Amino acid sequence: MSVQVVIGTQWGDEGKGKIVDYFSKNAEYVVRFQGGNNAGHTIKIEDEVYKLHIIPSGVISGKIGVIGNGCVVDPMVLSEEIKSLTTRGIVPKLLISNRVHLIMPYHKLLDGAEEHYLADKKIGTTKRGIGPCYSDKISRNGIRMGDVLHKEHLSKRLDQILPIKQKMLEVYGLHDILDKEEILKQYVLFGRRFKEYITDTHLILYEAYKAGKNILFEGAQGTMLDVDYGTYPYTTSSHVIAGGCAIGSGFPPWYLSDVIGIVKAYTTRVGEGPFPTELFDDSGKHLQQKGFEYGTTTGRPRRCGWLDLVVVKHACILSGITKLAVTKLDVLNNLKKIKVCIGYKLNGHTISAFPSSIDDVYTCQPIYKTFDGWKNFELPKTFYELPQQAQEYLQFIENFLQVKLSLVSTGPERNETLMI
Ligand code: GDP
Ligand code: IMO
Ligand code: MG
Repeated sequence: MSVQVVIGTQWGDEGKGKIVDYFSKNAEYVVRFQGGNNAGHTIKIEDEVYKLHIIPSGVISGKIGVIGNGCVVDPMVLSEEIKSLTTRGIVPKLLISNRVHLIMPYHKLLDGAEEHYLADKKIGTTKRGIGPCYSDKISRNGIRMGDVLHKEHLSKRLDQILPIKQKMLEVYGLHDILDKEEILKQYVLFGRRFKEYITDTHLILYEAYKAGKNILFEGAQGTMLDVDYGTYPYTTSSHVIAGGCAIGSGFPPWYLSDVIGIVKAYTTRVGEGPFPTELFDDSGKHLQQKGFEYGTTTGRPRRCGWLDLVVVKHACILSGITKLAVTKLDVLNNLKKIKVCIGYKLNGHTISAFPSSIDDVYTCQPIYKTFDGWKNFELPKTFYELPQQAQEYLQFIENFLQVKLSLVSTGPERNETLMI
C-alpha cells in the first residue's frame, strides 16, 4: 500500500498534472487538498489534452477523484468541468467533502475589485475569488458544500453574510449588485446537482487506508505560493506544502509514505512578486517559447528564469520531500550554457536559506553554477541514454538537494517519462 503526495516545489506549473496522471495508474483515490480553480493541471494523452482546474487529475485514468475539505470550489466551474469531461467520454468518479468552502459570486467580484484597488501593487491573482473565499472561511463567514443541501439553512446563512459582503463591495464602489434570491436559487440548484458526490470524504479516505488501498494526493500551486512559506504577500491563500495535505483532507500526517517534489528543470512564475533568477534575455525567451510557458488558467505569459535550488531546497525541507521528479528537461535542449542558482548574496553575505522578508528576496542576488548545454535528444528509454551533460545537470540537482531523483520527464506525453 502506498500513500503518496505530489507537491510543486516552485511557483506552480511544474507539471504536476502530468506526474499525477502518471502515478494514478497505481492509485485508487486521487485527492485535491487545497486551492481551487486557480490551478490548471494539464494531462496530454496522444492527441487529447485535458486541462483540469478543480477535478483531480486521476479521473482521466478512471480513478476516484476526491475534493478535500481544504479546497475551495466554484460550483459553476465544477459543473462545467464535469460536463466537458463527460462530453469527451470521461464520466468523472467524484467525491466532494461536505466541508469544502464554496466560491460565491461576491468572492469573484471582491478579488477583481481588490486587485483593481491595489493597481501597481496588485498580487496578479487569477481573479477566481480564491483569496476572498479563504478569508471568509477563516473569519467564519463562509458557505460550505453541506450548506447548499438545505435551502432554509442556506437562506439564513445568506441573510447573515450578504449585508457584510454588500458593504465590502461598496467600499470598492460596487453598489446594489447582490441579489439574495438569485444566489439562493442558483446555489440550491448546485446542491441538487452535486448531492450524489457530497460526503464525509475524510471517513472514506480513512476506510480506504485501513483497507490497504493506494491513495495519491495532488498538490496544487507550488511551495513559493504557500501562504506562510511563499513570497508573502505574493502568494495564494492556502497551505501548499505537504502539511496542508493532512489538514486539507482530514488524513493523518503519519499515514503518508512518500512526498514527491515536482521540480521544473528551470523556473517560471505567473503574476507579480519577486523572482530572483528571472531572465530578461534570449535564454529567458528560449524557455518561454520552447516550454510554451503560458498560464493554463489565465493564458498569461509565464515569467521564466534559471532553476533556483535555494527555492527547491526550501520546498524539500518544508515538505520532507522523499523523491524528486524533474520535468521539462527537454526545454533546456540546445542552450549553450545553463545556469543553476545555488545560493544568494544578501547585504554582503552568502545565504543558503530562502529569506522570509519580501524586501530581502527583492534585494538578494543569485549565485550561479554554470553547466554546458546539450543538443536535442531522441526519446530516451533510460537515464543513461540522456546526453552526458544532461545527466550531470540532473546528478548535480540530486546531490545538492540530497533527495533521490526518481523520475525525469522529457515531454508532456505519458511515454516521455523515465523512472530511475
Ligand atoms: P501543473 O499546474 O503543475 O500541472 O502544470 P501545467 O499543466 O500548468 O503546466 C505544465 C505544462 O508543461 C503543461 O502544458 C504540460 O503538458 C507540459 N509538460 C509537462 N511535462 C513536460 C515535459 O517534460 N516537457 C514538456 N515539453 N512539457 C511538459
Ligand atoms: P497550478 O496548480 C501558477 C498564482 C497567481 C498569483 C497568485 C495568487 O496550476 O500550479 P490566486 O488566484 O491563487 O489568489 O493568485 O498565485 N497562482 C498560480 N500560479 N500555477 C498555479 O496553479 C497557480 N495558482 C495561483 O498567478 O500570482
Ligand atoms: Mg498549472
